[in-house]
Amino acid sequence: MENYALHFIVGTLFLLSKFQETVAETVLDSDKQALLDFADNIHLSRRPLNWGVQTSVCKNWTGIGCSEDGSRVISLRLPGIGIHGPIPANTLSRLSALQILSLRSSGINGTFPLDLGNLKNLSFLYLQHNNFWGPLPLEFSLWRNLTIMNLSDNGFNGSIPSSISGLSRLVALNLANNSLSGEVPDLDLPNLQLLNLSYNDLSGSVPRSLQRFPKSVFLGNSESLLDYNISVVLAPPREEHRSRGGRCTGKLSEKALLGIVVACSVLGILGFGFVLLVCILRRKTVDGFPGELVKGNMSPEKAISRGQDASNKLVFFEGCNYAFDLEDLLRASAEVLGKGTFGTAYKAILEDATMVVVKRLKDVNVGKREFEQQMSIIGSIKHENVTELRAYYYSKDEKLMVYDYFSQGSIASLLHGKPGESKTHLDWETRLKIAIGAAKGIARIHTENSGKLVHGNLKSSNIFLNPQQFGCVSDLGLSTIMSALAPPIARAAGYRAPEVTDTRKAAQPCDVYSFGVILLELLTGKSPVHTSNGDEMVHLVRWVHSVVREEWTAEVFDVELLRYPDIDEELVEMLQIAMACVARAAEQRPKMSEVMKMLENVRVKPESRAPGDPEPSSGGV
Ligand SMILES: *[C@@H]1O[C@H](CO)[C@@H](O)[C@H](O)[C@H]1NC(C)=O
Ligand SMILES: *[C@@H]1O[C@H](CO)[C@@H](O)[C@H](O)[C@H]1NC(C)=O
Ligand SMILES: *[C@@H]1O[C@H](CO)[C@@H](O)[C@H](O)[C@H]1NC(C)=O
Ligand SMILES: *[C@@H]1O[C@H](CO)[C@@H](O)[C@H](O)[C@H]1NC(C)=O
Ligand SMILES: *[C@@H]1O[C@H](CO)[C@@H](O)[C@H](O)[C@H]1NC(C)=O
Ligand SMILES: *[C@@H]1O[C@H](CO)[C@@H](O)[C@H](O)[C@H]1NC(C)=O
Ligand SMILES: *[C@@H]1O[C@H](CO)[C@@H](O)[C@H](O)[C@H]1NC(C)=O
Ligand SMILES: *[C@@H]1O[C@H](CO)[C@@H](O)[C@H](O)[C@H]1NC(C)=O
Ligand SMILES: *[C@@H]1O[C@H](CO)[C@@H](O)[C@H](O)[C@H]1NC(C)=O
Repeated sequence: MENYALHFIVGTLFLLSKFQETVAETVLDSDKQALLDFADNIHLSRRPLNWGVQTSVCKNWTGIGCSEDGSRVISLRLPGIGIHGPIPANTLSRLSALQILSLRSSGINGTFPLDLGNLKNLSFLYLQHNNFWGPLPLEFSLWRNLTIMNLSDNGFNGSIPSSISGLSRLVALNLANNSLSGEVPDLDLPNLQLLNLSYNDLSGSVPRSLQRFPKSVFLGNSESLLDYNISVVLAPPREEHRSRGGRCTGKLSEKALLGIVVACSVLGILGFGFVLLVCILRRKTVDGFPGELVKGNMSPEKAISRGQDASNKLVFFEGCNYAFDLEDLLRASAEVLGKGTFGTAYKAILEDATMVVVKRLKDVNVGKREFEQQMSIIGSIKHENVTELRAYYYSKDEKLMVYDYFSQGSIASLLHGKPGESKTHLDWETRLKIAIGAAKGIARIHTENSGKLVHGNLKSSNIFLNPQQFGCVSDLGLSTIMSALAPPIARAAGYRAPEVTDTRKAAQPCDVYSFGVILLELLTGKSPVHTSNGDEMVHLVRWVHSVVREEWTAEVFDVELLRYPDIDEELVEMLQIAMACVARAAEQRPKMSEVMKMLENVRVKPESRAPGDPEPSSGGV
């Protein structure tokens, strides 16, 4: 069954195709031949395409995406590969199932390839930044499904055909920086959200239908085009999505829920010796503990000292070269990093300046043996995208876990800001790397314990940046040894798959769901549960569904991302992956290993962007 929400964007796109690991080489001969004819008739200024006759079109050919059953080619994306000369006629036009065509940023010249009009399912067309010239096609009506058309930065001339009005699904139209002349036709495109007609030779006045767009989209044409006042009459009725005010309130409540401790306010001073660095209470044991940190009447200090004479030692994992013991840890300066689902995390600075994260678990629900078993499973995972568990401590009253410290804070704080701090600007490159890294980490976790280990508590506050700036997953494998989390607090629920009733029994598809929510967070910049219009709680997954269903797709994305050129395909593709992950039915969600592969494919293949080569058109002009 197809997800209705995906329908609008591209219907089947290749998302589904990528779920199928074992696609036999069944691609239609005619598709393969069309591609080979294309490859034979273009001139490449760089390395040739790796389209070998003997290899699998869907699996091995650069830039090709296939349909679910592997029988049809539905996407061809070869941006910046240095094609020179015209697109050979009667080649690509034979790929009748094609939905995405990207040949942007090359040195393609010649007139608009009119035969592409045959491609009835074409939804995304990216031909920007080439040397096309001549008129635009007069007849557009065949491309019923066209959603994004980007023809900017070419030399198209002649007038803008009014038949563009027939493209009722068009969301983005970019004709900027060409040589188009004449008047702007009255375009009845109710779904259009992104328009750019700037830097052409257009004259006359802006038709009423387009007066809802700001003047900046008409810059660089005849002055007469700028003589209008933005008309509100035709503005699309979606102020509630526009308003970012809701997001702010959402952020506040998010912050409140997070309960991250501000600087010195709730000093999480671990009774057993952690003294807060920031507040210069260094190495002074404090008598009055903040109530919540002390369970029962007994201070943890006593608990530990009592337990120490037993075999309760800090247990280090193999390969860990830290040289400290429990004593050192107890003497260390500590700062509260945050209160998580399973306990409070502290940053501890040892006397030799080593920094580690100490997590103090609350409500461990298993005995020592089971706890140790779980720790050894977690501790055995050595992977650059999984925070390494260095050591743990178990006594009757205290359970501690020691991890590496990451200086940059969690993705949640990077994305939504820390209390009292403005949020950092996270560019698309970084967000992509966060997603890819985290996916790799989770995929690795899912192979552990005979392929049964579950992270169980995925959320953006448990993902960090590793030194290579990729996502790195933390806080894994604890849900099974902790008491069930009930009743779920709103924020945690924002990540929880619908089928989860008992957090201890969560399975791997639940992790996939939670990860999908994190992807949506990266794409929208919104918290998983945020408030809008006062205090109505909005669930991110539901919100995205509704926006996408109402066909305001571009509205979904974080405005910060919309200013990057040429990433629309990548955004849409990541959105597809996220939507697949948050499928309601667990069995419809992809496996984490598949998600990982899909994410790695979001970025245009590296070989198509030669290093150090500024822009491919350099040889063309
Ligand atoms: C193209 O549009 C037609 C008619 O609306 C629809 O049936 C078809 O599924 C669309 N194709 C894709 C790939 O979305
Ligand atoms: C083609 O792709 C498959 C699956 O990704 C891979 O196993 C195989 O080695 C590739 N073949 C070639 C010749 O690259
Ligand atoms: C297209 O580009 C090629 C090589 O860059 C050049 O030889 C040819 O004359 C150009 N053709 C047109 C019609 O501009
Ligand atoms: C276009 O897409 C629709 C929906 O995915 C599909 O049913 C139809 O077969 C496609 N048309 C062609 C010519 O491939
Ligand atoms: C217009 O396009 C040309 C190449 O086609 C490019 O060099 C130039 O920078 C573009 N101008 C703007 C304003 O983007
Ligand atoms: C478009 O450009 C071509 C080549 O530069 C020229 O021959 C043609 O007359 C132009 N057409 C218009 C309508 O300006
Ligand atoms: C429109 O395109 C021009 C030229 O590429 C660019 O400089 C400008 O920033 C774009 N304007 C908008 C509103 O996207
Ligand atoms: C736009 O608004 C200004 C002042 O609000 C007014 O003076 C001007 O005449 C208006 N222009 C048009 C084209 O309506
Ligand atoms: C189209 O291409 C231009 C130039 O590369 C880019 O700035 C813009 O973001 C692209 N996308 C859309 C939807 O205009």
